[in-house]
Amino acid sequence: MIKYVDQLDLAGKRVFMRVDFNVPLDDAGKITDDTRIRAALPTITYLLDHGCRVVLASHLGRPKGKVVPELRMDPVAARLAELLGRPVGKADDCVGPEVEAAVAGLASGDLLLLENLRFHAEETANDPVFAGELATLADVYVNDAFGTAHRAHASTVGVPQVLPGVAGLLMARELEILGRLLADPARPFVVLLGGAKVSDKIGVIEKMLTLADAILVGGAMCFPLLAARGAGVGRSKVEEGTAEVAAGALAAAAASQCEFELPTDVVVAPEPAAAAQRRVVSSDAIPADEMGLDVGPATTAAFGARLRAAGTIFWNGPMGLFEVAEFAAGTRAVGEAVADCPGVSVVGGGDTVSAVRAFGLADRITHVSTGGGASMEFLEGRALPGVEALLDA
Ligand code: 3PG
Ligand code: MG
Repeated sequence: MIKYVDQLDLAGKRVFMRVDFNVPLDDAGKITDDTRIRAALPTITYLLDHGCRVVLASHLGRPKGKVVPELRMDPVAARLAELLGRPVGKADDCVGPEVEAAVAGLASGDLLLLENLRFHAEETANDPVFAGELATLADVYVNDAFGTAHRAHASTVGVPQVLPGVAGLLMARELEILGRLLADPARPFVVLLGGAKVSDKIGVIEKMLTLADAILVGGAMCFPLLAARGAGVGRSKVEEGTAEVAAGALAAAAASQCEFELPTDVVVAPEPAAAAQRRVVSSDAIPADEMGLDVGPATTAAFGARLRAAGTIFWNGPMGLFEVAEFAAGTRAVGEAVADCPGVSVVGGGDTVSAVRAFGLADRITHVSTGGGASMEFLEGRALPGVEALLDA
């Protein structure tokens, strides 16, 4: 059994809290979506209210074991301080004498954010010595980093081998809500998938064919599937080497009780540019010199009707190139249908979450997951190393 943060006497303790503050940054280094920081606030506040000295640790981006100045945690510390309305200390490393001194100086109810864990290659290598160094900073380990739970790294797996470990409130909520999708979803259970890569989604497709009532597919990942059904897809983005995966998915879908719907119409243009001439064509008549960039109106109407009538929805992946306003209509329309659905709606994945926020729909969705890869692996039915590590911690 996993223990949760409220099942341990934490009063006055030094806590090492693993969070997933891997937030998107723009070219100027500004945070463009602070969902993951906001999502950790309940556990942070809980710990501070219990007089803990809280040491927060996260990765940001993929610096690959080197200090990358653009990936320092300073903007995250600033945003966290703003959201909490209190100062947040920031260390310039995550291990070493200076960090130890900073932690030793924390008073009850103080907060210190460590520097990017991935500035050390030992983090992703789950190096036991590095994990031991992190562990010396605290008495107790709290993992609220659901978004990183699919990684077996020093801060997710190594530290709880040394310290007693519990899950935070965000981790608890993610596991509870996503767990219900696997165990007892209200019917009909409709899964909406999009995004670029069918290879990323194949595990979830296979699992959901056994659990869901319908899988609806849009986004660039529909093109290898349409091609496998024999359609020409013109110059549409088709992930390389996926013909077999796509054919396998169609065969599995045909053999299952689950309905599997691909777009019936798509918005095409000669290139993925705002100024390009757009038109709607049938999905089996994509011109050879054009590419599909969004799902068409007949598809959004059909998908929308299914989504509005669903008992449970899981959505991962945009329906088209929604970052370009001219190709955002499909993603917006299905997003509105997801928001309108009176049942349980769960949205996961960085792009999808950004889309839902950009369209102002997040408040009408039951659960906006902080996990992209983590939520997908969880829904494939795979054990998450960061969760497993808490089982015997
Ligand atoms: C994510 O955003 O998927 C998590 O923060 C994990 O990051 P990673 O994919 O770089 O391991
Ligand atoms: Mg990822």
